[in-house]
Amino acid sequence: KRGTISLHGAQRIADVPRRIFGSFIEHLGRSVYGGIYEPEHETADEHGFRGDVLDLVKELGVTCVRYPGGNFVSNYRWQDGVGPKSQRPVRRDLAWHTTEPNQVGLDDFYHWSKAAGTEIMMAVNMGTQGLQSALDEIEYANGAPGTALADWRVANGIREPMDIRMWCIGNEMDGPWQVGHMSAEEYAVAVERTAHAMKLAEPGLELVACGSSSASMPTFGTWERTVLTRAYDYLDFVSCHAYYFERGAKSPQDFLASGENMKHFIATVAAQADDAKAAHQGDHDIALSFDEWGVWYQDDWNRQEAEWKAQNRVLHNEPWPTAPHLLEDTYTVRDAVVEGALMIELLAHCDRVRSASRAQLVNVIAPIMTQNGGPAWKQTVFYPFAFAAHHAVGDAFAPTIHSSQVHTESYGDVDAVRAVVTFDQQTHSGCVLMVNRDMQQATELHLDLQDLLSNTQFTEIIADEQVLLHDDDPYATNTIEHPDRVKLRTLDITASAEHPAQFTVTLPE
Ligand code: AHR
Repeated sequence: KRGTISLHGAQRIADVPRRIFGSFIEHLGRSVYGGIYEPEHETADEHGFRGDVLDLVKELGVTCVRYPGGNFVSNYRWQDGVGPKSQRPVRRDLAWHTTEPNQVGLDDFYHWSKAAGTEIMMAVNMGTQGLQSALDEIEYANGAPGTALADWRVANGIREPMDIRMWCIGNEMDGPWQVGHMSAEEYAVAVERTAHAMKLAEPGLELVACGSSSASMPTFGTWERTVLTRAYDYLDFVSCHAYYFERGAKSPQDFLASGENMKHFIATVAAQADDAKAAHQGDHDIALSFDEWGVWYQDDWNRQEAEWKAQNRVLHNEPWPTAPHLLEDTYTVRDAVVEGALMIELLAHCDRVRSASRAQLVNVIAPIMTQNGGPAWKQTVFYPFAFAAHHAVGDAFAPTIHSSQVHTESYGDVDAVRAVVTFDQQTHSGCVLMVNRDMQQATELHLDLQDLLSNTQFTEIIADEQVLLHDDDPYATNTIEHPDRVKLRTLDITASAEHPAQFTVTLPE
């Protein structure tokens, strides 16, 4: 099959927000303990953080990390995780039925973020805590020395304010599984009061309200309308969460087209944000924070959860495990292609999606895996994220795409090829991200990038790095035994002899 990707008459979408390359660390399974933190590990730094994992986080190009949950945050007391480690309480976590040792908390995560060079996106507990606790955490984290809670931070060894700007007001409060779950009306009142007070404390904060935990929630859309209309004045972002997996799709071809669901998600939530603005005759847009996205084999988790419930006695008098192996999905090449397509979708909508977090970062549905006391390695999904994070800089453009169609049961006929182009005016460099979603057929693509040269003194485009993620076996994976089974390959690209900004490439099926 053949197609074209042309920048002729292409729309500039927006600048690419660096936060779109965010990720997520939750106190869940071995994400923290045995993941980022393992004081006994040979690469551990003075705070107990694994150096090999930090190196991979930098290589991944993550810019911003949401913390500490997730479902975990809705029964978490941030106060437990600061101060001398020997005095921190051990608690039960109701979200994942595990024991939380509290050896990593806000102070420690601040040190980790400094080492990783990442911004912190902090989530507050709206399940068992609420407004007062959120205000206390802001004062503790960001306050100038001289007040009780800021001085507590200083006494714990961090003199400078942490300057955490982005705060999520709860997590998935629409979900019946959430500790302290609320109706849309209840959450709308709670988030309005909490966000109002948080902005009194610090007007410069950027606040994220919980949106829907998936597009299949019965309240999808109406939840956003209720919450955003009520709390519009104090909100900067609304969250979106979406996970996909092959067995959860109607067919493998539908799975490859999961970006269509993400597109629908973005359009629906953006419309609700616009309505809320109009209803208030407002002066600001509420942006989308796609702060949980990726591939997650949810049927594995549902099975595990059912077994775990069946085994439990009525009274929970057995100890809950600490840092067990949970949600440790092993990703295939096909999963990575889907994640690449989702990344393209986020960039293609970066006028509305101004922040995103691939969920999660280490061990738990993660691009980076570790063995306790052993090595760390990259999963297949590491590659599309890392390439985009390092190369998609500057402005994003929506090229005109002429492509064959593929049929899906869920979305009808869709373009086989999706693509987005970025270009950085500072460095005069750019990238074209493309995916072929056709399971059966390769596509030969003609690329016309001539328009990137207009208004510049340059006369040609040099393609200096061409990579491809593909394998004849779509189910190939990377494992501890074979950590480099799947890697990026070189993509053959032919430059046109007559036109200095035109190329031909073939994307395999
Ligand atoms: O990322 C795993 C879980 O998925 C998070 O804890 C929750 O927010 C979502 O349901």
